[in-house]
Amino acid sequence: MSRKIIVTSALPYANGPIHIGHLVEYLQTDIWVRFQKLCGNECLYFCADDTHGTPIMISARKAGISPEEMINGVRKEHKEDFDGFHIQFDNYYTTHSPENKQFSELIFKRLNEKGSIVKRDVEQAYCENCKMPLPDRFVRGVCPKCKAEHQYGDSCEVCGTTYRPSDLINPYCATCNTPPVMKTSQHYFFRLADYEQPLRDLMAGGYTQQSVANKLDERFSAGLKDWDISRDGPYFGFKIPGEEDKYFYVWLDAPIGYMASAKNYCDRNNLDFDALWPGTNSGRGGEGRYELYHFIGKDIMYFHALFWPAMLLASGIKTADRLFVHGFLTVNGEKMSKSRGTFIKASTYLKHLNPEYLRYYYAGKLSDTIDDIDLKVDDFINKINSEIVGKFANLASRSVPMLTKNLDSWLGRLDNEGHELIKKLVTMADQIVSDYEKLKYASAVRMITSLADEANRYVEQKQPWATIKTDPEMTRTNLTAIVNAMRILTIYLKPILPKFAENVEKLLNIEPLRLADLEYTLENRKIENFERLAERIDEKQVIAMIEESKAVTPDSGQVSQATSIEPIKPECTIEDFAKIDLRVAKVKTAERVEGADKLLKLVLDVGGIEKNVLAGIAQAYKPEDLVGKIVVLLANLKPRKMKFGLSEGMILASGPGGKDVFMLTSDPGATPGETIH
Ligand code: MSP
Ligand code: ZN
Repeated sequence: MSRKIIVTSALPYANGPIHIGHLVEYLQTDIWVRFQKLCGNECLYFCADDTHGTPIMISARKAGISPEEMINGVRKEHKEDFDGFHIQFDNYYTTHSPENKQFSELIFKRLNEKGSIVKRDVEQAYCENCKMPLPDRFVRGVCPKCKAEHQYGDSCEVCGTTYRPSDLINPYCATCNTPPVMKTSQHYFFRLADYEQPLRDLMAGGYTQQSVANKLDERFSAGLKDWDISRDGPYFGFKIPGEEDKYFYVWLDAPIGYMASAKNYCDRNNLDFDALWPGTNSGRGGEGRYELYHFIGKDIMYFHALFWPAMLLASGIKTADRLFVHGFLTVNGEKMSKSRGTFIKASTYLKHLNPEYLRYYYAGKLSDTIDDIDLKVDDFINKINSEIVGKFANLASRSVPMLTKNLDSWLGRLDNEGHELIKKLVTMADQIVSDYEKLKYASAVRMITSLADEANRYVEQKQPWATIKTDPEMTRTNLTAIVNAMRILTIYLKPILPKFAENVEKLLNIEPLRLADLEYTLENRKIENFERLAERIDEKQVIAMIEESKAVTPDSGQVSQATSIEPIKPECTIEDFAKIDLRVAKVKTAERVEGADKLLKLVLDVGGIEKNVLAGIAQAYKPEDLVGKIVVLLANLKPRKMKFGLSEGMILASGPGGKDVFMLTSDPGATPGETIH
């Protein structure tokens, strides 16, 4: 009997591009989904962009567009990246949707009715300049423990201490450098501890891997704390019903986005949502015979193993049958790094290399554990060239051209030896299927490559290139065995290499391969003309990809999330550009600003006119070194009142920030006030 299955991957944030780290997850999931389909199961794969929260609101502000515009643009890019890697969603939706709003309100209402929502005052950092409450990651300052500078409000990246934003010494707003004030506000909390026993039962029932369950045990022992699920405006998200300026915290509505994506799919395909995902009473009341699986990375396991199932348990909605947690990607043994060029965007990869090569490489590394997986660049090139090209594609190039050129493109019949070879390959099906099912892809790939070795040994033994001259019919028989071996290996590889499989199907002139096709052999029929199935990777392609990744994504201490790269802003016309008035200016005085360790206060001579400018360059330049310097000033910038005074222009500088800021200077002989064209 075939199974009915729903699968989700975590919803990527809508303020940065998809990179090869994300792809570990979407490829792991897509391979599993394709494997289920290969087995003849009904499998629906749902995902969406995670669109709410402060970082997204701020990215949009910086880009000068509305959050809606930004999330629409990013979603389109994400979808293109996923398509490029043959990741096949049944629905790729957005959390900024009516379905998600409705479900979020429903679940909140049910939690409330259960008495699991409490209100409490909290002290929070607020930036009076940005006019918004600051999430922990948007406050920076000196670590209270080790005194390292410029640390986030929740933890120190130098000594690892975790603390509250109010513990930071000399805190400042990460966006505008203004010291925040503390404000009191009433927040909504979800009493997670009410669901400790049901959560423990869920884990005991094998909800997730043992290693994850062990980490959760630590949380249980420490005691489950109430979870703050509200945020004050301005915030990009769903308003809490009955509130004027309070919103659901992004992590409340994000996982509900799984359901919203499924619901949207059901509505568009006239399916009963209750049958897919029982408990909301939003469909026709089906019985729900679908298995449900979430795939996520280990950084977000508490959200998916504690908060999310607790919300569902409290609301009487189906929880996942299993949560599959994977580890993180490292490249050459280290964290992805923009300066090393290993922070590779999906779109950059696609410009240089075949997406299936990454699919294959990751599959060869993935298992059911939460261990990190390492992409070693040399190993990647070797593995693809020796396995995809040297073992799999090679079987076709050693058999098909000879059949089409010398033997009328006609497959003969298998002899006993041929049958034996095929039997050897087919007997391993159970093992391979079980490996896929249990996410042990590396083990499946090892088995499949060893079977390819077996088939290649057969070619060596039979020497068709020699026998073709003396015994064409025997050669046809042997080539038929080789083609059949290739076809079986293709069935096994299809979840990993869908395009490769499609090309083999074309070559053999057959219907899309399914696991059930292992039962048949291909005999007495015509095949199509040969086309190469795979090209070798040239090291130059990889080097070019890494170089390009260095060029476009400098490391920056300023980005709010490790994975976010600011989107390019909307187009500006030459007329817009012409509005900019750049002038030569001479630094008359420069001094530090008390309370703002990034700012220098400059007085500039712009040809007799004086301008005061507050510039965020204090970590890169000493004030005494600046006096007398010629700089480039954006002279007609609208003056801005900052906490530390009025700033009447902006000096041009570039660089990632912090110590690495480089002022644009002009010819030392230039006259202050001169226009720069
Ligand atoms: N928006 C949240 C998820 C909400 S799910 C209701 C989020 N987004 S993310 O874009 O940061 O990450 C999406 C998924 O990609 C997560 O499961 C995360 O673990 C995974 N990965 C992101 N970077 C990764 C690596 N470098 N390596 C492996 N997986 C990584 O978290
Ligand atoms: Zn601010």
